[in-house]
Amino acid sequence: MEKPLVGIVMGSKSDLPLLEGAFKVLDEFNVPYTARVMSAHRTPGKAMEFAANAQANGLKVIICAAGMAAHLAGVMAAHTVLPVLGIPVASEPFNGLDALLATVQMPPGIPVGTVTTGKAGAKNAALLAVSILALSDAALQQKLQDFRKAQTAQVEAADAELQASLAK
Ligand code: RP5
Repeated sequence: MEKPLVGIVMGSKSDLPLLEGAFKVLDEFNVPYTARVMSAHRTPGKAMEFAANAQANGLKVIICAAGMAAHLAGVMAAHTVLPVLGIPVASEPFNGLDALLATVQMPPGIPVGTVTTGKAGAKNAALLAVSILALSDAALQQKLQDFRKAQTAQVEAADAELQASLAK
Protein backbone atom coordinates (compact mmCIF):
# COMPACT_ATOMS: atom_id res chain seq x y z
CA MET A 1 0.00 0.00 0.00
CA GLU A 2 1.25 3.47 -0.90
CA LYS A 3 2.10 5.88 1.90
CA PRO A 4 -0.76 8.31 2.50
CA LEU A 5 -0.26 11.87 1.25
CA VAL A 6 -3.52 13.25 2.60
CA GLY A 7 -4.68 12.88 6.19
CA ILE A 8 -8.43 13.09 6.66
CA VAL A 9 -9.51 13.67 10.23
CA MET A 10 -13.10 13.80 11.46
CA GLY A 11 -14.31 14.90 14.85
CA SER A 12 -16.78 12.05 15.16
CA LYS A 13 -17.75 8.88 13.35
CA SER A 14 -21.03 10.67 12.65
CA ASP A 15 -19.06 12.85 10.17
CA LEU A 16 -18.03 9.81 8.11
CA PRO A 17 -20.91 9.77 5.59
CA LEU A 18 -20.07 13.35 4.59
CA LEU A 19 -16.48 12.38 3.90
CA GLU A 20 -17.38 9.63 1.44
CA GLY A 21 -17.36 12.34 -1.23
CA ALA A 22 -13.77 13.27 -0.34
CA PHE A 23 -12.69 9.62 -0.39
CA LYS A 24 -14.29 9.24 -3.82
CA VAL A 25 -12.38 12.20 -5.28
CA LEU A 26 -9.05 11.04 -3.86
CA ASP A 27 -9.71 7.51 -5.14
CA GLU A 28 -10.48 8.89 -8.61
CA PHE A 29 -7.18 10.75 -8.63
CA ASN A 30 -5.32 7.78 -7.12
CA VAL A 31 -4.15 9.89 -4.21
CA PRO A 32 -3.35 7.73 -1.17
CA TYR A 33 -4.94 8.89 2.06
CA THR A 34 -5.55 7.90 5.63
CA ALA A 35 -8.71 8.65 7.60
CA ARG A 36 -9.00 8.97 11.37
CA VAL A 37 -11.62 9.84 13.97
CA MET A 38 -10.05 12.31 16.39
CA SER A 39 -11.60 15.15 18.30
CA ALA A 40 -10.17 18.50 19.37
CA HIS A 41 -12.26 18.21 22.53
CA ARG A 42 -12.71 14.51 23.24
CA THR A 43 -9.23 13.27 22.27
CA PRO A 44 -7.16 16.48 22.26
CA GLY A 45 -3.85 14.70 22.93
CA LYS A 46 -4.31 12.31 20.00
CA ALA A 47 -5.33 15.13 17.65
CA MET A 48 -2.31 17.22 18.63
CA GLU A 49 0.05 14.27 18.24
CA PHE A 50 -1.36 13.41 14.81
CA ALA A 51 -0.78 16.97 13.58
CA ALA A 52 2.66 17.28 15.15
CA ASN A 53 3.83 14.05 13.46
CA ALA A 54 1.98 14.50 10.15
CA GLN A 55 4.89 15.91 8.17
CA ALA A 56 7.37 13.33 9.46
CA ASN A 57 4.83 10.65 8.52
CA GLY A 58 4.84 11.83 4.91
CA LEU A 59 1.51 13.65 4.81
CA LYS A 60 1.36 16.73 2.56
CA VAL A 61 -2.15 18.01 3.29
CA ILE A 62 -4.58 17.55 6.17
CA ILE A 63 -8.35 17.71 5.72
CA CYS A 64 -10.47 18.13 8.84
CA ALA A 65 -14.22 17.77 9.15
CA ALA A 66 -15.96 18.80 12.34
CA GLY A 67 -19.26 20.18 13.49
CA MET A 68 -20.55 22.40 16.32
CA ALA A 69 -17.66 24.27 18.06
CA ALA A 70 -15.43 22.99 15.29
CA HIS A 71 -11.91 23.49 16.63
CA LEU A 72 -10.39 20.42 14.98
CA ALA A 73 -8.92 22.12 11.89
CA GLY A 74 -7.59 24.98 14.01
CA VAL A 75 -5.92 22.62 16.47
CA MET A 76 -4.35 20.69 13.60
CA ALA A 77 -3.12 23.91 11.99
CA ALA A 78 -1.66 25.03 15.31
CA HIS A 79 0.58 21.95 15.39
CA THR A 80 1.79 21.68 11.80
CA VAL A 81 2.90 23.92 8.94
CA LEU A 82 1.25 21.58 6.42
CA PRO A 83 -1.76 23.06 4.62
CA VAL A 84 -4.92 22.32 6.64
CA LEU A 85 -8.31 22.38 4.93
CA GLY A 86 -11.43 22.58 7.08
CA ILE A 87 -14.89 21.25 6.26
CA PRO A 88 -17.56 22.67 8.58
CA VAL A 89 -20.16 19.98 9.32
CA ALA A 90 -23.80 20.97 9.68
CA SER A 91 -25.54 20.00 12.91
CA GLU A 92 -28.51 21.11 15.02
CA PRO A 93 -29.54 23.78 15.85
CA PHE A 94 -27.45 26.17 13.73
CA ASN A 95 -27.17 24.04 10.59
CA GLY A 96 -23.40 24.48 10.14
CA LEU A 97 -23.12 28.22 10.68
CA ASP A 98 -21.51 27.55 14.07
CA ALA A 99 -18.94 25.17 12.55
CA LEU A 100 -18.34 27.48 9.59
CA LEU A 101 -17.49 30.42 11.84
CA ALA A 102 -15.37 28.27 14.17
CA THR A 103 -13.40 26.88 11.23
CA VAL A 104 -13.02 29.99 9.10
CA GLN A 105 -12.42 32.60 11.81
CA MET A 106 -8.84 31.69 12.59
CA PRO A 107 -6.63 34.30 14.23
CA PRO A 108 -3.91 35.74 11.96
CA GLY A 109 -0.83 33.52 11.74
CA ILE A 110 -2.56 30.11 11.83
CA PRO A 111 -4.55 29.71 8.61
CA VAL A 112 -7.17 27.08 7.86
CA GLY A 113 -8.35 26.87 4.24
CA THR A 114 -12.06 26.60 4.88
CA VAL A 115 -14.42 25.14 2.30
CA THR A 116 -18.19 25.23 2.30
CA THR A 117 -20.32 23.05 4.56
CA GLY A 118 -21.89 19.83 3.38
CA LYS A 119 -21.16 17.44 0.56
CA ALA A 120 -19.81 20.17 -1.73
CA GLY A 121 -17.28 21.05 0.96
CA ALA A 122 -16.04 17.47 1.25
CA LYS A 123 -15.63 17.22 -2.51
CA ASN A 124 -13.93 20.61 -2.78
CA ALA A 125 -11.55 19.93 0.11
CA ALA A 126 -10.38 16.80 -1.68
CA LEU A 127 -10.05 18.66 -4.99
CA LEU A 128 -8.08 21.40 -3.26
CA ALA A 129 -5.79 18.77 -1.75
CA VAL A 130 -5.28 17.33 -5.23
CA SER A 131 -4.46 20.83 -6.56
CA ILE A 132 -1.85 21.29 -3.85
CA LEU A 133 -0.27 17.91 -4.58
CA ALA A 134 -0.41 18.59 -8.33
CA LEU A 135 1.96 21.55 -7.89
CA SER A 136 4.80 19.05 -7.68
CA ASP A 137 3.29 16.20 -9.72
CA ALA A 138 2.89 16.74 -13.47
CA ALA A 139 0.78 13.60 -14.00
CA LEU A 140 -1.65 14.68 -11.29
CA GLN A 141 -1.74 18.18 -12.82
CA GLN A 142 -2.78 16.63 -16.13
CA LYS A 143 -5.51 14.57 -14.45
CA LEU A 144 -6.84 17.72 -12.84
CA GLN A 145 -6.91 19.51 -16.20
CA ASP A 146 -8.75 16.51 -17.69
CA PHE A 147 -11.23 16.52 -14.80
CA ARG A 148 -12.02 20.20 -15.44
CA LYS A 149 -12.48 19.60 -19.16
CA ALA A 150 -14.84 16.68 -18.51
CA GLN A 151 -16.80 18.77 -16.02
CA THR A 152 -17.12 21.60 -18.55
CA ALA A 153 -18.28 19.15 -21.20
CA GLN A 154 -20.95 17.80 -18.82
CA VAL A 155 -22.39 21.27 -18.22
CA GLU A 156 -22.32 22.08 -21.93
CA ALA A 157 -24.07 18.79 -22.70
CA ALA A 158 -26.75 19.57 -20.10
CA ASP A 159 -27.28 23.01 -21.68
CA ALA A 160 -27.48 21.53 -25.19
CA GLU A 161 -30.06 19.01 -23.94
CA LEU A 162 -32.11 21.79 -22.34
CA GLN A 163 -31.97 23.91 -25.50
CA ALA A 164 -33.07 20.94 -27.60
CA SER A 165 -36.03 20.20 -25.31
CA LEU A 166 -37.11 23.88 -25.29
CA ALA A 167 -36.96 24.03 -29.09
CA LYS A 168 -39.50 21.20 -29.44
C1 RP5 B 1 -18.14 17.36 16.48
O1 RP5 B 1 -19.39 17.32 17.06
C2 RP5 B 1 -18.12 16.29 15.43
O2 RP5 B 1 -17.26 16.65 14.39
C3 RP5 B 1 -19.55 16.15 14.99
O3 RP5 B 1 -19.77 16.84 13.77
C4 RP5 B 1 -20.32 16.82 16.13
C5 RP5 B 1 -21.26 15.88 16.82
O4 RP5 B 1 -20.57 14.76 17.27
P1 RP5 B 1 -21.33 13.43 17.72
O5 RP5 B 1 -22.22 13.82 18.86
O6 RP5 B 1 -22.11 12.93 16.54
O7 RP5 B 1 -20.24 12.47 18.13
O8 RP5 B 1 -17.14 17.16 17.41
